Amino acid sequence: MTENKVNFDGQVVIVTGAARGIGAATARLVAARGAKVFAFDINRDGLLELQKELSLADNQIGTLDIGDQDSITTTINAVAQSAGKIDALINTAGIVGPTNVKVENVSWPDFENTLRVNLFGTIWLTQAVIPYMKSAKYGRIAHVASIAGKEGNPGMSPYNVSKSGMIGFIKGVAKEIAPDGIVINALAPAVISTPMNADTSDETLKYMISRIPMGRVGQADEVAEILAFMGSSACSFTTGFTFDASGGRATY
Ligand SMILES: NC(=O)c1ccc[n+]([C@@H]2O[C@H](COP(=O)([O-])OP(=O)(O)OC[C@H]3O[C@@H](n4cnc5c(N)ncnc54)[C@H](O)[C@@H]3O)[C@@H](O)[C@H]2O)c1
Repeated sequence: MTENKVNFDGQVVIVTGAARGIGAATARLVAARGAKVFAFDINRDGLLELQKELSLADNQIGTLDIGDQDSITTTINAVAQSAGKIDALINTAGIVGPTNVKVENVSWPDFENTLRVNLFGTIWLTQAVIPYMKSAKYGRIAHVASIAGKEGNPGMSPYNVSKSGMIGFIKGVAKEIAPDGIVINALAPAVISTPMNADTSDETLKYMISRIPMGRVGQADEVAEILAFMGSSACSFTTGFTFDASGGRATY
């Protein structure tokens, strides 16, 4: 019989940003496909709901601010110690940062905070898991970037920089770790229906949808399917790439 490689039986998968939205959908999906999921977020209440839903042990959830390098190191080391390995990291945690603010008016603390969470968090998480994956000669790393990192959104320069930085980061790292059996990719969604967009005005949503040939926003479950592939052994000959989830908006 043909092997189902988007299956996580016996695998340890870390999901960040797992309390809601794309991260929660991904945690649910990979758990349903057999993964032992370790779920992290700054939102403890959301994690507790997920814990209940997926019957996760207490050490399989944890509050983690990915904008804090020391916390990342401690958390990743703790997972590796208790689970014995880390097969995949799926990093969906992120913030939008300032919107509708022209670049000359963005305060540096706001700019830096957006970079710290989205970009530095990506770097620190990657640095923390690589040694474990190298010793296992296997690993899958998937980071959620954004179409904003490919095209740029006006009034959102910190977010644009953070997401294009993620895309650039994975390209070079992929070449470094390819000989070690580790694959690292990014994903660039267009607008997806999640709590992140709960406050987006109807007018803005209409404009965003008008740019999507499929004529609708994406769903978290659809993004989770791509991330599950990226985090699985089936993703075996693609690295340093930015996958698309934009309903036909970005065909490059
Ligand atoms: N929703 C969209 O339209 C869209 C489009 C493109 C890219 N993205 C990206 O997808 C990812 C997931 O977004 P979403 O739509 O599910 O958003 P969301 O706001 O619903 O979920 C993001 C999660 O990340 C967590 N988080 C935020 N800062 C954190 C930190 N410092 N440390 C740990 N966790 C933190 C939040 O608590 C939340 O649970 C983000 O990286 C976002 O930039 C979203």
